[in-house]
Amino acid sequence: MFTPYYRPRRLRHNENIRRMVRETQLSANDFILPLFVVEGNNINNPISSMPGHSQLSIDLLIKEVKEVQMLGIPAVILFGIPNEKDAVGSDATNNDGIVQRAIKAIKDAVPEMYVITDVCFCEYTNHGHCGAIANGTVDNDATLEMLGQQVLTHARAGADMVAPSGMMDGMVAAIRETLDSENYLDIPIMSYAAKYSSAFYGPFREAAESTPQFGDRRAYQMDPGNAREALLEVSLDVEEGADIIMVKPAMPYLDIISKVRQQIDLPIAAYNVSGEFSMVKAAAQLGWIDEQKVALEMLTSIKRAGADIILTYFAKDAARWLAK
Ligand code: PBG
Repeated sequence: MFTPYYRPRRLRHNENIRRMVRETQLSANDFILPLFVVEGNNINNPISSMPGHSQLSIDLLIKEVKEVQMLGIPAVILFGIPNEKDAVGSDATNNDGIVQRAIKAIKDAVPEMYVITDVCFCEYTNHGHCGAIANGTVDNDATLEMLGQQVLTHARAGADMVAPSGMMDGMVAAIRETLDSENYLDIPIMSYAAKYSSAFYGPFREAAESTPQFGDRRAYQMDPGNAREALLEVSLDVEEGADIIMVKPAMPYLDIISKVRQQIDLPIAAYNVSGEFSMVKAAAQLGWIDEQKVALEMLTSIKRAGADIILTYFAKDAARWLAK
């Protein structure tokens, strides 16, 4: 009988040795929780395709952020959904807009929480696209101007970090220049650098009420077939002054996370998007998979691929599971 000389199984013998040799360890420190804020008082609109998540008014948002804080999660990312939408997404650049008031309220009530803002227009425009429209598509350079105004309102409200997600060319440089010109030198930019035009955003669009009313986002978000182009997008954003680079979605794009990890030394964030979350929830509700095990395995894979930070709707649950 052949007996192997080297036996990797020796280091899998029990949980103690497995813990000692585990290369990737998840912790609550890795997570950013996305939150959706709406106008009103005592409003909690459950998002049907994302069980456990709701659109919240500012008063309930504060309660939620307190819980997030208690769980040891360092940061939230805010998405604002205004009552009134128009062609240029005016609420997004209003110092008194929904997200700006939410930032202030969180910073007053839970000052330790790190508040990141999604910087985009799709939740604020009546057409649902990520900027101003000209000739049937998003006008890149006009949108850069608007993004500058938007980040200034976030900075004034007290945001700790801004995260542009609209995939406009030059958005990082434009935002850096605007922030610096107003002396917000220390606000980092987490750029959605390699953001794919993905069907995995489906449930989010219900949550953020941001479905495009005509066409789709393929003229600005990346084609799922492209990997080299992701590296180009990333290097442009690094040159423009991004502080953190994001890849989105996460699980179907682990190869991209891994390639980006090899190319740059900046921290990498990965967005475990709504569709990735909802698939696990739905299968778990049907009793087809073990939610906790699948979710933690998925998050571990994202980190193992090279992500330092994971934006995930599992943040609270995962923090609880990991604390056990
Ligand atoms: C755009 C934005 C989107 C998501 C985050 N920021 C949607 C889109 O591009 O259509 C998707 C996040 C998710 O699916 O969880 N502001």
